[in-house]
Amino acid sequence: MKNTFTLLGLGLLLVACGGETSENERFYESDYKPDTTQVTGPSPQAAGSANNAVAMDQGAKLISLSDCLACHREDEKLVGPAYVDVANKYEANDKNIDYLAGKIIEGGSGVWGQVPMTPHPNISKEDAREMARYILTLRKE
Ligand code: HEC
Repeated sequence: MKNTFTLLGLGLLLVACGGETSENERFYESDYKPDTTQVTGPSPQAAGSANNAVAMDQGAKLISLSDCLACHREDEKLVGPAYVDVANKYEANDKNIDYLAGKIIEGGSGVWGQVPMTPHPNISKEDAREMARYILTLRKE
């Protein structure tokens, strides 16, 4: 009696597996084309965070669009100090961001040496603040 049940069970198992196989076969033989655009394309969420990253790096973008890189590198001294050194010198607070934004617009010398930084009268206060804010995020110490 026990054996009959076992056989019955095995039989059912085989039927079940058989069913599954033919289901798979139907899947692969059909013209069904999975829509991969959903998988490979950026999800709305990913696009959102990418936009955030762009917004956060606004300062970096403004710096790359201006002439700053002619005299500054992020991590080595050129004509002007490395931005990392600037970030290590000033705490990232409103007062320092204001001060550095003013310096970016007005230029000047005497803080890092006698070589003057050229003034940038065409940069708006907001853009200069974005640049300063970005530079101060580079702090390493
Ligand atoms: C002609 C070269 C030159 C260019 C172009 C230049 N800088 Fe400078 N920068 C300097 C020098 C030199 C100093 C150091 C000035 C000093 O010792 O007071 C300096 C200093 C700085 C400081 C630190 C200021 C301080 O008082 O500690 C910041 C921030 C800065 N530059 C940002 C920028 C940004 C942003 C730009 C682009 C809009 C830029 N610089 C373009 C040469 C330059």
